[in-house]
Amino acid sequence: MIPSEALAGATPDGSSTVRSIADRRAATPEGPVPGTVGVVGLGYVGLPTALGFAHHGASVVGFDIRADLRRYIARGATPVHEPGLPELLRDGLDAERFRVARSWSELARAADTFFLCLPTPSRPDGGIDLGALRAGSERLGRALRGRSSRPLVVVKSTVVPGTTEGTVRPILERASGKVGPELGVAANPEFIAEGSMVHDVLRPERVVLGVSDPRDAEALARLYAPFHVPVCSMPTAAAELVKYASNAFLAARVALANEISRLAEASGVDVDTVLTTVGRDPRIGPSFLSAGPGFGGSCFEKDLRALVAEGRRRKIPLTVVKGILRSNDEQAEHAFRLIDRAVGGARRRRIAVLGLAFKPGTDDVRGTRAEPIVRAALRAGARVRLHDPVALEKFRRAFRDRSGRPRRRGSVEFCRSVEDALRGADAAVLVTPWPEYGAFPRAWSREMRSPLVVDLRRALREDVRYRGDFLWVGLGTPSAAGIHPESATPISAVAEDGR
Ligand code: UGA
Repeated sequence: MIPSEALAGATPDGSSTVRSIADRRAATPEGPVPGTVGVVGLGYVGLPTALGFAHHGASVVGFDIRADLRRYIARGATPVHEPGLPELLRDGLDAERFRVARSWSELARAADTFFLCLPTPSRPDGGIDLGALRAGSERLGRALRGRSSRPLVVVKSTVVPGTTEGTVRPILERASGKVGPELGVAANPEFIAEGSMVHDVLRPERVVLGVSDPRDAEALARLYAPFHVPVCSMPTAAAELVKYASNAFLAARVALANEISRLAEASGVDVDTVLTTVGRDPRIGPSFLSAGPGFGGSCFEKDLRALVAEGRRRKIPLTVVKGILRSNDEQAEHAFRLIDRAVGGARRRRIAVLGLAFKPGTDDVRGTRAEPIVRAALRAGARVRLHDPVALEKFRRAFRDRSGRPRRRGSVEFCRSVEDALRGADAAVLVTPWPEYGAFPRAWSREMRSPLVVDLRRALREDVRYRGDFLWVGLGTPSAAGIHPESATPISAVAEDGR
C-alpha cells in the first residue's frame, strides 16, 4: 500500500483515498479500460506515469532503452528517491498490472496506446534537443510496422508547440508505414512535481489532451476516466503550449516572490507576512509564493529557455520570460551576498551547507541552488561542508563531474551527518527545507565554532529561530538587514487579525 504521506492532500480533507488496484477496478463505473498502455522511457516522468495508469486499473507495459534500468525496475526497485513510488511499483507488479518489456517489438505487440516519456534537454542555444524523442519515435514506428490495428502514440515529453504533429508524426508515419488516419498521434503533457509525484500522478488537477482526431480524444478520455479529474481537450499545439505556459507562470511567481523578498529585507519587513497576505487575494492565491535562493530543478529553467528560444525563432521577444531567468540567477547571487555579509566575509570561514537536493522529498540535484552557492563560497575562499539526508552522493557525483578535483585539499567535504557538517563551522546555511532541519536542536549549535544559521528558506521553526543558542538570519526577513526580532511584527499577529 502507498503510505498516506505520499498522498497528503489527495482529497480536500487530506484523507487518503488510495485503494488497491483491484478495489479501484471494481469501483470504476466506466468499466475496465480498453487495451494495454505502453510507456516508452521509464525515467522521472515515464515510471510514475506508467504506475499511475496501472493503479487506476489499466494494464501497462513499460520499456526503456537502458537494459540495467529495465532489470532494476522489473525487480521492484525504483531508481529515484520519491515518497510512495516504491510502494506504487510493488503494487503494480504484484497485481500484474505493470510489467517491463525487454524489446521494442515486445512493447509494440503488447500495447495499443503508447506514451512517449523521453527527455527533451536544453541545447546550448536554449532550444530543446529532440534527439531522444526522434530516435524513440523512429524505433517505435518501426516496431509498429505491419500491425493491423490502429495504434495511438501520445507525446508526454515537454515539447514546443508544433512538435507532435510537425516532427513526431512524420517520423512515426515514415517508420511504421501508417499514414494519416491510420495512426493516432496526440499530446498529453505532464504536471508531475518531484517530491509529490505519487499524489500528482494519481490525482492530477487536470488532464490536458492535445488531439486532432475525435477517436483519440475519446480513447484517452476513457483511459483517464478512472482518475475522476477534469479532462481538457484541445488542438495538439495548444496542449503543448499549456505545459510551457504553466511552468512560466509558476516560475514567475517564485521570481516575483524572490524580488519582493529583497525589498522586504531592505525595508526591514518579513516577506512571509507580506506574501501570505497578498496570497489571500483569490485572484492571486497562496501557492508558489515562498521566497528562497531561486528556483532549481530540471524543468523551470529548461522550459523558460526553450520558450525564449521559440520566441526568438518566431521573432517574438518574450521579455518577461527572459527577465524571470535573469532574476533567478540574481537571487542565487543575492543569497550568497547575504551569507557573506552574515559571516563577516566568507574567506577562510567554514560554512556548512544543509540541503543539496533542489527541493525536499527528492534526491534530484539537477539545477539545485546549492551548487551556485557552494561555488561562490569556494571562490570567496571558504571551506564548505555539505550535508543532505538523501542527495549527498548525487551531488558529489554531479559536482565532481563538473569541476574535477577541488582546488584545495579539504575545501569541500561531504558529511554523512548534520553534526559532522556543523563541527567547527562559522555558519550553517540552510538551502533545502528538509523537515528534519526545522528543529535545529541545541546539540547542533553546540558543534559550531560561531553559531550562526543563515536560513535561505525560513525553514527553521518560528519558536526555534530566536531560542538564543545561535544567531538566526533569514532570507527575506528583517534579520537579513540586522534588525532585532522584537521590532518586527510576528506573522501570526497579522494572519489572525484579518480586519
Ligand atoms: C515543476 C512543476 O511544478 C510541475 O508541475 C511540472 O510538471 C514539472 O516542473 C515539470 O515540468 O516536469 P518541479 O520542478 O519538480 O515541478 O518542482 P517545483 O515544486 O515546481 O519546484 C521548482 C523549484 O521552485 C524548486 O527549486 C523549489 O524549491 C522552488 N520554489 C517553489 C520556490 O522557491 N518557492 C515556491 O514557492 C515554490
